[in-house]
Amino acid sequence: MASYKDLGFVNTKEMFKKAVTGKYAVGAYNFNNMEQLQAIIVACVETQSPVILQVSKGARSYANQTLLQYLGQGAVEMMKELAKEKGLKEIPISLHLDHGDTFELCKSCVDSGFSSVMIDGSHHSYEDNITLTKKVVEYAHPFDVTVEGELGVLAGIEEHVVAEKSTYTKPEEVIDFVQRTGVDSLAISIGTSHGANKFKPQQCAKNADGVYIPPELRFDILAEIEKQIPGFPIVLHGSSSVPVEAVKLINSNGGTLSDTVGIPEEQIRKATQSAVCKVNIDSDGRLWMTAAIRKHFADKPADFDPRQYLGPARQALIAMYKHKNEHVLGAAGKV
Ligand code: G3H
Ligand code: 13P
Ligand code: ZN
Repeated sequence: MASYKDLGFVNTKEMFKKAVTGKYAVGAYNFNNMEQLQAIIVACVETQSPVILQVSKGARSYANQTLLQYLGQGAVEMMKELAKEKGLKEIPISLHLDHGDTFELCKSCVDSGFSSVMIDGSHHSYEDNITLTKKVVEYAHPFDVTVEGELGVLAGIEEHVVAEKSTYTKPEEVIDFVQRTGVDSLAISIGTSHGANKFKPQQCAKNADGVYIPPELRFDILAEIEKQIPGFPIVLHGSSSVPVEAVKLINSNGGTLSDTVGIPEEQIRKATQSAVCKVNIDSDGRLWMTAAIRKHFADKPADFDPRQYLGPARQALIAMYKHKNEHVLGAAGKV
């Protein structure tokens, strides 16, 4: 049993309170390996942004759950050293389970030092979602671990569960869900989706510069939800913008990604002006990392030391996380 407080993490309570009032969102960035984690820490310290380190069930089994716990702990120590070295403030870091699908998984994360967990019961019936979410809350809260629940279904791949179509969150259900479960934050479905294939060009309009613009997020539903639970922390999953430059770089260096359009960053920026205080981004990091590695091998096909290609990939990620904190989420300088 490890307490997150001893490892140097914080839960999301204070982070979210400040973000809702300050009209910005905290970046929730997924990691599976050392380079991704280093990039997140460097970018967030240098931009002085609070951060949520996100671990999925898949990441836990890929990286080994024990090693992950120590990687997380190491990230806190690295953050402290970096802040001191640069004469900057230490930043709050939360270690969060992304898309927990069972009580047992959430319990295991609480027991191994996570400061926050998501129980995603969105694929169950409404009543079963409430029962499962409440059970996780009852276990986590005595340890001061915060819990995120989800209402509504996002299209795309969520932990091996593939939803073809999204089901928007029903605003009339949110008060009941929040009250009966006791969750600390709520993930909602208003048109974002998981993965790199969010919209096909055919589903989009084109602006004067020839840029594809997908259908707008359902800000009307978000507003209705906010009316029901004013100031309650809202989470947006599936918020990658799928940058054209990254997709082009991948495809011009041997990749075969199909044309795809993500959530425009301006729409995410707009959402952060509401009670949306946590924004999940994973796919954009995957794309930039792949782009940097493909470019490296195209330029230097004889290289074979992982540091030669993972180093530039890490640099590309640092630039991306800084950009998100500074220009999309408004989280820079909020420590
Ligand atoms: O929403 C899911 C995250 O992008 C994590 O993906 O389950 O492939 O680690 P993963
Ligand atoms: P993206 O696939 O849009 O990056 O979303 C990630 C996410 O929601 C993780 O929970
Ligand atoms: Zn998600």
